[in-house]
Amino acid sequence: MRAWSIITTFIFYTLIIPLVYAIPRNKTIDDVFGDDTTAALPTYSPGTAWHRGDQCDGCLVQPDTTQAFDGTWHDATHSAADTQPVFMELSFNGSAIYVYGILANQVPFATTATNLTFTLDGAVVGTFVHVPDSSSDFIYNVPFYTNPSLPMGQHTLHIESNAVTQSALILFDYAIYTYVLLRYPHSASVAYLTTMNIVSTTAPSPLPHLPFPLPLHPLPLPPPLPPPTPSPNPPIPNQTSQP
Ligand SMILES: *[C@@H]1O[C@H](CO)[C@@H](O)[C@H](O)[C@H]1NC(C)=O
Ligand SMILES: *[C@@H]1O[C@H](CO)[C@@H](O)[C@H](O)[C@H]1NC(C)=O
Ligand SMILES: *[C@@H]1O[C@H](CO)[C@@H](O)[C@H](O)[C@H]1NC(C)=O
Ligand SMILES: *[C@@H]1O[C@H](CO)[C@@H](O)[C@H](O)[C@H]1NC(C)=O
Repeated sequence: MRAWSIITTFIFYTLIIPLVYAIPRNKTIDDVFGDDTTAALPTYSPGTAWHRGDQCDGCLVQPDTTQAFDGTWHDATHSAADTQPVFMELSFNGSAIYVYGILANQVPFATTATNLTFTLDGAVVGTFVHVPDSSSDFIYNVPFYTNPSLPMGQHTLHIESNAVTQSALILFDYAIYTYVLLRYPHSASVAYLTTMNIVSTTAPSPLPHLPFPLPLHPLPLPPPLPPPTPSPNPPIPNQTSQP
């Protein structure tokens, strides 16, 4: 009786598949400690231009360590006289990216202007410019570049410090990216199958244990349920007749 498997397959597709839902999760890439999930580190070039700011005795610009994410940041000053590009790169597998840094204003003898160009997967996608004011304030958690809507997948963000007309500083603190998980809500699916058990007296097979995180390609389906096998002597429930 193929009809049974057609019906059970139909129920599976119509009731189970629409219950798969996507959960966006944010992950952090620290300038020093890297990706909190993959441990992938940002790359900094040239290495001689970049310093771990919170451990840099020679850096004139000294923000408050307690206000920096994880207490760390990376510092690079790009002198207008230096023609070698100063840049950093972030690689992530996600569907959104948010890059945060620290801004400085007046610091004696230091360049504090910031002028950045963002190139995502080879295409220029944004710029960020900070012209210092007359205060000595630092500003923390400044979004240098945000893109909340990317195709889910592997991306590379290239962040270049521009110093064509004047020297420039970058204080990179951290980035956040969004990773989308697909979830199979086991209990809800099983509940639906049990409710629809009119077509089958056998218990629904448990849903497959899915890998975590789930791949985005179509999820494997369990084989359709076998046709019903009527039991000749259905067990009679225990009559616990207590007064
Ligand atoms: C991820 O972080 C960004 C920036 O803080 C925020 O706008 C977004 O709502 C967050 N998304 C999730 C799923 O937490
Ligand atoms: C920032 O850099 C760009 C590219 O080099 C340059 O055209 C622009 O004038 C700079 N802006 C400032 C405020 O320095
Ligand atoms: C990115 O994540 C997706 C979804 O989990 C996965 O299919 C893909 O293989 C990942 N890409 C890389 C380069 O890790
Ligand atoms: C109820 O079930 C128990 C265990 O299966 C059995 O030992 C007992 O005899 C049953 N009682 C009645 C009244 O059927």
